[in-house]
Formats: sequence, structure tokens, C-alpha cells
Amino acid sequence: MSAVAGKRIVLGVSGGIAAYKAVEVCRRLMDGGAHVLPVLTRGATRFVGRATFDALASEPVRMSLFDEDDPIPHTTLGQTADCVVVAPATARVIGAYAAGISSDLLTATLLATRAPVVICPAMHTEMWEHPAVAANVATLIQRGVHVVGPEAGLLAGGDEGLGRLSSPGDIVAALGRILAQAANPPSETPDMVGLSVVITAGGTREPMDPIRYIGNRSSGKQGHAFADEAASRGAEVTIVTTVGRSGPPGATVVRVDTAAEMAAATTAAAADADMVIMAAAVADFRPVDPVGVKLKKRDGVPDVELEPTPDILAALGASKPEGQILVGFAAETCDVAANATAKLSGKGADYIVANDVTAENAGFAGDTNEVVVLASDGRMLPIGLRSKRDVARAVLDLVLADRKRRDGRQDPSSGGQEHSRYVSNTVSQEIQ
Ligand code: PMT
Repeated sequence: MSAVAGKRIVLGVSGGIAAYKAVEVCRRLMDGGAHVLPVLTRGATRFVGRATFDALASEPVRMSLFDEDDPIPHTTLGQTADCVVVAPATARVIGAYAAGISSDLLTATLLATRAPVVICPAMHTEMWEHPAVAANVATLIQRGVHVVGPEAGLLAGGDEGLGRLSSPGDIVAALGRILAQAANPPSETPDMVGLSVVITAGGTREPMDPIRYIGNRSSGKQGHAFADEAASRGAEVTIVTTVGRSGPPGATVVRVDTAAEMAAATTAAAADADMVIMAAAVADFRPVDPVGVKLKKRDGVPDVELEPTPDILAALGASKPEGQILVGFAAETCDVAANATAKLSGKGADYIVANDVTAENAGFAGDTNEVVVLASDGRMLPIGLRSKRDVARAVLDLVLADRKRRDGRQDPSSGGQEHSRYVSNTVSQEIQ
């Protein structure tokens, strides 16, 4: 799903020759599922027609502070927007915004919003490089405004240089990143800064022939929720995933299909990791010899010989570097506690997150989960039904509190005993 899908985006268009490219920005945002509210300056209408945006956008063009149905259009637009983007942004609009001057609906909306603002400047090189414009842009950047472009290239009148509006594709991609960042703000407790975490997500696919595979129902949501949570707490995240989803900003995403590919990518990434979280549903068996052409029905039921896949978690458990924390999962349909306990010791993990995948609103594909964390020291900590992100948060809270307790014990000056009792009580209360 596109990062702009379902977002209310005010598209400000000011008066420059590049305004025609705003039409394409509008179309791409609409294609991505955004709700686009166009705001044109009077100058913009000298370059593009109001009717074009009326036809393409989610709502009709707004231009004036006074003659619309809404008596206070700038505050309505500013307060309800998920993002305001100005493309192209002229020197005048940039200057007015930086100076806090609301001379028209667009500049008033810019001042009336707390949503992320993205300006995409476009002007001649001499104007872009003028100290006044440079100072205004610097002021806006300092205030947290995002600036996309300009680029070097052909300008109006046949000139060449820096000042060309970024391409509509680049503008929409930047908007997607900024919206994803806004939806996933850095944690208030960045307690994973300096930790590298490898996370697996999704279900592997083991080919039988070029079009059929043995797979499972994992959507990757639980694994990606761990990646989002760990990244928001400051961790350096590598996610090895079978699903076509982007990772959190700054994460390394490794796309794989099969258990063998996941094993190779995870083992390589895990060598230097502080923590590994195996949330993926890895196939236990794969066809020994996938055929190179489509199996034909007329040839009868295929006699597919299966072999075990590499057990990634067990291999990581057997070669775990000193201090690394290994978290496995157990997807179970019966005897959950017994099966998960057997996996905890059998695979050499520090924790197993036992997931009864038959429980209502838990397990595969949905947005919620309910699990019990088994720790290698015998504790069993239930995490009740909640969003997959909150499950990830609760598991990480527990693991990090244990890590802190362990480090405290190793530091004789820290009064480890008292500290340990306090932290483990806090964690138990938090996750009940
Ligand atoms: O992706 P979602 O739709 O959000 O669903 C989430 C989930 C149900 C997939 C997740 O919560 C979960 O339970 N993941 C583990 C699924 C699984 O494969 O469980 P298992 O009991 O078969 O495997 C035990 C552990 O060994 C797991 O950590 C698994 O990643 C690992 N394993 C399994 C087989 C194998 N060949 N190599 C492995 O490393």
C-alpha cells in the first residue's frame, strides 16, 4: 500500500512555469489513494487552469480566504491536513512563509498547519542563489520544513542551471517517506540507540515448479511491527522479509522468498547483531527437486519428494555470539506451552514468543496478536490481545529490561540486585 493512501494532502501550487508539473503530482497522489485538496495562488492560474485540478483532485480548487463556502478555509485546511506540499514553491511564497506573512489562502494555510510541510522550490538560478531566498529556505529548514529540490537542468527561456522543480515522481516519493516518518515518530525513549537488530518477517515460499510453491499464511505484519518499533527506539534495523513492504526509515530491507534465501541473509546479518528476532514463518519442508516447467494435471497427482529446510533459529542458537539476544517464535495450534517450551531449549533461544494461532484475533494475517513470552530462566509472561505493534513493544520492553538487569549485575558498582528486582516487577506489570 502506498504511504500516501488515505492521507489528506493539501497541494499548494504557486505561480511559476513549473506549475504544469503540479498536475502530474496531483494525479500521482490520487493514484496512490491520497485525498488531494488543491490550493492555487492567483499567479498559478496564469500557468495552469483551475478546471484541470477541479477535474483531477478529490475536492474543487480553493483560492481565496473569503469567497468560499467555508468562512475560515485556511484553518480548516491546515488543521485537517496530514501534509501540506507546495509544488512549485516560488520565491514569493517561500519568503512570505518564512516571514509569517499570510497574504493569500496558501500562505495562510501554511501558517495554520501543524502537519508536515514540504516545499518544492522552482525558480531561476539567480533567484534561488539570492541571499534572501537562501536565508528564507534556511529558516524554514530550521523550523522543520522539508525541502525537495530544486534540481539542475533546463529552465524557462532556454536557460540552464539550478532551480528546476523536482520530478513529480521524486516529489511524491519524498512525500511518502515524510508521511511514513510522521506515522512512525521516533520513540520518546530511544532505548535501542547503538543496538543492531535483525528481524525476519513473512512466510517463505518453497517452489514445486515455476508457478507453484509450498507456503503459509504469514503476512509479515508481526515481523514488520517489530522492525517499526525497534527503529522508532533508535535501533539499527535489518529486516529479512518475504513481503513487498518497505521497512521503517533507515532500515536495511532484504527481500527473500525461500527458507534457503532467508537462512543465508539472516545468518550473514546476524553475525554482528546485538539481537535477532525470528518472527518469520519459515517452511519446515521443501520439494527436493522443483521441476523447471509447470506440472501438468494430465500427468496425474505429482509425486513431490520433500526434504527439511535449514532450521535458521536452531543454527543461530548453536552459534550465538556472546551477549547476543535471540528471540524465536512458536506458532502452535495445540499444546502451546509444551511445544513452545521444547522450542526454547531445542533451538537455543533466549526467549520464545508462543503464539496460539487458533486464538481469535491472533496469529496470522490480522492486525492484532496475543502471545506468551517464555524466557530461558523459566519465566512465562503473557501479553494480552493488542495490536501487533504493541505486542512488539511489550516484547522489546521485557527483553531490554532483562538486558539492563544483566548488565547491571555485571557492573558491581551498580547495586545490581535491587535494580534487578525493580525492573522485573515493572516489566511484569506492564505486559500483563
Ligand atoms: O506474519 P503475520 O501474518 O503477522 O503472522 C505472525 C506469525 C503468526 C507468523 C508470527 O507471530 C509467528 O508465530 N511466527 C513464527 C512462525 C513459525 O514458523 O513458527 P514455528 O513454530 O514453525 O517455528 C519456530 C521458530 O523457528 C520460529 O521463530 C521460526 O521463525 C523458526 N524457524 C522455523 C523453521 C525453520 N526452518 N527455520 C526457523 O528458523
